Amino acid sequence: MALQVIPQIANLRARLAQEDSIAFVPTMGNLHAGHIHLVELARQRAECVVASIFVNPLQFGANEDLANYPRTLAEDCEKLQAAGADIVFTPSVEEMYPTEQTMRITPPPIANELCGAARPGHFDGVATVVMKLFSIVQPQIAVFGKKDFQQLFIIRELVRQFNLPIEIVAGETQREHSGLALSSRNGYLNDGQKLEAQRLYRTLKLIVDNVQKGNRDYAAIEAQSSQYLTQLGWIVDYVSIRSAATLMPASPDDRDLVALAAARQGSTRLIDNIEFSV
Ligand code: PAF
Repeated sequence: MALQVIPQIANLRARLAQEDSIAFVPTMGNLHAGHIHLVELARQRAECVVASIFVNPLQFGANEDLANYPRTLAEDCEKLQAAGADIVFTPSVEEMYPTEQTMRITPPPIANELCGAARPGHFDGVATVVMKLFSIVQPQIAVFGKKDFQQLFIIRELVRQFNLPIEIVAGETQREHSGLALSSRNGYLNDGQKLEAQRLYRTLKLIVDNVQKGNRDYAAIEAQSSQYLTQLGWIVDYVSIRSAATLMPASPDDRDLVALAAARQGSTRLIDNIEFSV
């Protein structure tokens, strides 16, 4: 069946009224193989697969790339169609926010750490739009990527704390052969930056090796890794070893961990993480 493109909330609600098995993949478009993997996971789990494409102004800071964020609707629709999505919801900003969105979701304090420390208010914007999208689509399943590990954590908390009847499914990070995590923002990198960008994942792998060999001085590992990247020209927001279950700084007793990093190549901010056990 052909992909249905539906920009209006009322039309989407009318179309979905008869569906009782909906898997939802929210995106901001400029789709790559990472998103398509999420659509495939959705396809395996429900009769009706709905994606959304909405570049959400609420989650961008004043000096961020909202205006320049790549908008590639025609190509995105082709990819969604090929991946077997049934519907793509493509609201305008006016459709999503017809009046000022003064009601907001306040995420837990962990939202002010890691990416939230460098991007104040970012996760309020994410949680608020995801709550709105959930309320519009009313899926039984929603699929998010593990590359945005902190986002995934906050959305799981949103669902848990508001008793939303939605199962959250997490898709593995998709990578280039070099290890670079696929991201819509990779398109901003020039050739030299793209080559250097592989180092973020390699640095995380070195951290994992180091911890798995028995080093529990997490603060020292974080500082050394951050210094290493800085010396190579990165602007580092954080390198952090955390509990995968709570996202709190890891203690030597934690067994399930995640190493996370966010750093800039020029003006392009890249994030990545590796979950691992000790
Ligand atoms: O991960 C994203 O693309 C966005 O943060 C999301 C979840 C679609 C909300 O705008």
